[in-house]
Amino acid sequence: MKKEIKIEKLPDLKKAREKKEHIEYFEYLVKPSEFLLNFFDGKKYYIRTYGCQANMRDSETLAGLLECLKMNKTEVVDDADLIILNTCCVRENAEDKVFGEIGALKALKNKNPNLLIVVCGCMVEQTHIVNKLLDTYKQVDLIFGTHDIYNFLNLLEQTVKENVRLVDVTSSAGDVYEISQSARDDKFKAFVNVSYGCDKFCSYCIVPYTRGRERSRRKEDILCEVNRLLEKGYLEITLLGQNVNSYGKDLYEDYDFSNLLEDVAKTGVKRLRFLTSHPWDFNDKMIDVISKYDNIMKYIHLPVQSGSDSILRSMNRRYTSKQYLDLVNKLKEKIPNLALSTDIIVGFPNESDEEFEDTIKLVKEVKYDSAFTFIYSPRVGTPAAKIKDNVTSKEKSIRFTRLVKELEKIIEEKSNAMVGKVFDVLVEGVSKKNSDVLSGYNQNNKLVNFKGDPSLIGKIVNVKIIESHTYSLIGELVSDD
Ligand code: SAH
Ligand code: SF4
Ligand code: F3S
Repeated sequence: MKKEIKIEKLPDLKKAREKKEHIEYFEYLVKPSEFLLNFFDGKKYYIRTYGCQANMRDSETLAGLLECLKMNKTEVVDDADLIILNTCCVRENAEDKVFGEIGALKALKNKNPNLLIVVCGCMVEQTHIVNKLLDTYKQVDLIFGTHDIYNFLNLLEQTVKENVRLVDVTSSAGDVYEISQSARDDKFKAFVNVSYGCDKFCSYCIVPYTRGRERSRRKEDILCEVNRLLEKGYLEITLLGQNVNSYGKDLYEDYDFSNLLEDVAKTGVKRLRFLTSHPWDFNDKMIDVISKYDNIMKYIHLPVQSGSDSILRSMNRRYTSKQYLDLVNKLKEKIPNLALSTDIIVGFPNESDEEFEDTIKLVKEVKYDSAFTFIYSPRVGTPAAKIKDNVTSKEKSIRFTRLVKELEKIIEEKSNAMVGKVFDVLVEGVSKKNSDVLSGYNQNNKLVNFKGDPSLIGKIVNVKIIESHTYSLIGELVSDD
C-alpha cells in the first residue's frame, strides 16, 4: 500500500545561516514509550555512515538510542529490520554514493515491506535532496536532519504508528542536547564533540549550512564525558569540532581551546588528539599546551586548501600563504617531531596554472606527513557555486594527478625518515590482510603493522620501524610496557 507523505519541517538553507542569540543546553533523558519497546525489542538495526567524524559520532548516538529499545546491531544489511543511512554532501560524489545505496535498498524493501529505511545527516539538510528522495526514492520512510537527533525516537514512533513517510528537518542551528546514550564503535579510541557547526563560511563549503552555526559544549560536560570514557578503559580521546580552535568563543570570555586541551590532558588520558584545526584560530597558547603535555599527540591536521593568496581570498579562508607558512614554522620549531597533514582543493573556480603552481610550491615547503586532496565540487547554495568557472574538468584532473604525485614523493620521504625509530603504538587489532600481523597508529598518526600476539590488542606498545611504505610502516615489537 502506498504510504502518505507527512511533512513536519522542510530544510531551508537561508535559515541555516541564522545565528541564535542564546543557545540553550538540555540534558536529554531517553524514556522510550511502551509502544517503541514492544515494537522494536529484539529487532536488528544497521547503520551506514558516510562523511566525517561528526557523522560517525552522531551514528554512535543513534545506535545508543536504538539500544535503549533493546535492538541489536547487525553488520549484514539484508538481516536488518531498520536501516539508517547517515549521509554526507560535502562533495557531489559523496551524494552519488548515497543515492546508489538507497537505490539498491529498493530490492530489500520489496522483499520485506516491513523494513524501515531512514535517511539522516547532512545531505537531507538540502531541500532539493529531500524533494528528490520523496519523488524518486519511495522506499525511504523517515528523513530527519542533523539538529533532530535528540528527537529520533519520537520521529521513529510517529513513522511507525501513523504508517507515513515522515520528513522533519530542522535547519536553524538549535540548542545543545547532551545525550548520554551512545553505542561507541571502538573500545579503545573515542571521539568527543567539543563544538557543533561552523561559523567560517568558506565560500565552497556546505558544512555551515548542514550543521548550522557554531555552538560550543560546556566544558564541564566535555570533561565529564572524557572522565566517564577513561573509567571505561578508553586510551585515546579525539576532541572533535569543525574548527576546534575556536572552541569556547561563543560561551566563555577567558576559556578557550588551549584551556580545554590542557584540562583534558590533565585527566591523565593516555593519548589525546584533536580535529580539525583552522589556521586562522590557532594561537600561541595552544602551541604551548601541545608541546607541554606528552599525552597530546604530536600530530596536527591543518587544512590549507590552496597555496595561492588570490584563491585563498576567494575561498574566504582568512589567511595568506605566508601567514600559513609562518604558523607551520612556529609549530615545527616549538613542537619537535610534529607530523602535519592537510586538506587541499584543486580546481577552485578559475584557478590559473600559476595559482595551482603556488599550491605545489607550498606543499614542497611544508613537507606534509599526509594529505587529503579533492577536486572542487560546486555545492548548491554556497557562494562559490555561483562563480562562472573557466577551468575544464580535464585540466582539473591533470592538476589533481600532479599534486597527488608530488605529495606521494614527500610523504614517502617522511615515512622513510621514520625507519630505525621507536614509536608508541596503540594496538587496535589484527591486520585486515594478515592475521599474524597487528596494526595500530603511532603518535604521528601513521599506520604501523608488526608481528605480535593478539593479546596485545588494546595496549600501547613500543615498536621499532624497519620498513616504510607511503601510507604505512612495518615494525617489530620492542617491548609492551
Ligand atoms: N571543518 C573541517 C572539515 C571540512 S570538510 C575543515 O575545515 O577542514 C573536509 C574537507 O573537504 C575540507 O577541508 C575541504 O578540503 C574539502 N571540501 C569542502 N567542501 C568542498 C567542495 N565543495 N569541493 C571539494 N572539496 C571540498
Ligand atoms: Fe567548511 Fe571552512 Fe567550516 Fe571547514 S572551516 S567546515 S571548510 S566552512
Ligand atoms: Fe560531510 Fe556533513 Fe561531515 S557534509 S564532511 S558529514 S559535516
